[in-house]
Amino acid sequence: MDAKEKNGSEEKSFKAAVITVSDKGARGERVDESGPAAKEMLEEAGYEVVETLIIPDEPEELKTELIRLADEVWADLVVTSGGTGFSMRDQTPEATLAVADRLAPGIAEAIRYQSMAVTNRAMLSRGVSVIRRQTVIVNLPGSPKAVRESLGYILDSLDHGIRILRGSASECAR
Ligand code: MTE
Repeated sequence: MDAKEKNGSEEKSFKAAVITVSDKGARGERVDESGPAAKEMLEEAGYEVVETLIIPDEPEELKTELIRLADEVWADLVVTSGGTGFSMRDQTPEATLAVADRLAPGIAEAIRYQSMAVTNRAMLSRGVSVIRRQTVIVNLPGSPKAVRESLGYILDSLDHGIRILRGSASECAR
C-alpha cells in the first residue's frame, strides 16, 4: 500500500522534494546518483516529487531552499542528501536545525540505529530530522547506498507522522 492509498483515495498524495547537498555535484564535477535514488524510492512509496535540487555545501543556500519548500511550496516532506559528515564543509544538520520549528529526533535516531547494522561508520552521520510548519525535513547521508538504506528504514512509518502533522490522522490506533 503506498502513501496515497493509505491516506485515503479522496486525498492527494504527499508532496516531497529532494535536495542533494554537494559542492562537486553543484559544480557538475560529480554525477548526482543520490537525488535520483531518493526520488525513485519516494515515488515508489506514493509521493509526488515536486522538486529535485542540487546545491553546494552552503548553509545559507540550504536554509533558503528549506524555508521556501516549507512555507511556499508546502511540501509534506523534504529529504536532503549529503553534508552530514565531519568535513568542515558539512553543515547540512546546522542549516536544518536553524530553520526548524520543532525537533523530530526519532527519525534520525532510527536511521542511525538501523544503519549501524550495515556499517559502524553510520555513527559518523550527524543528520537531523525536524518539522518546520507542516513539513518534515530529514537529512540523509550523501552516498546513493546510504540514501536507499536510510529511506528503506523510515518510509513505512513516516507517512503516519505526516498524516498526523497535516491533521488528517489523529491517533495511532491500528
Ligand atoms: N549510513 C548508511 N545506512 N550506509 C552508509 O553507507 N555511510 C556513513 C554514514 N552513514 C553510511 C551511512 C559514512 S561512511 C559517512 S562519512 C556518513 O554517513 C556521512 O556521510 P555524508 O558526509 O555523505 O553525509
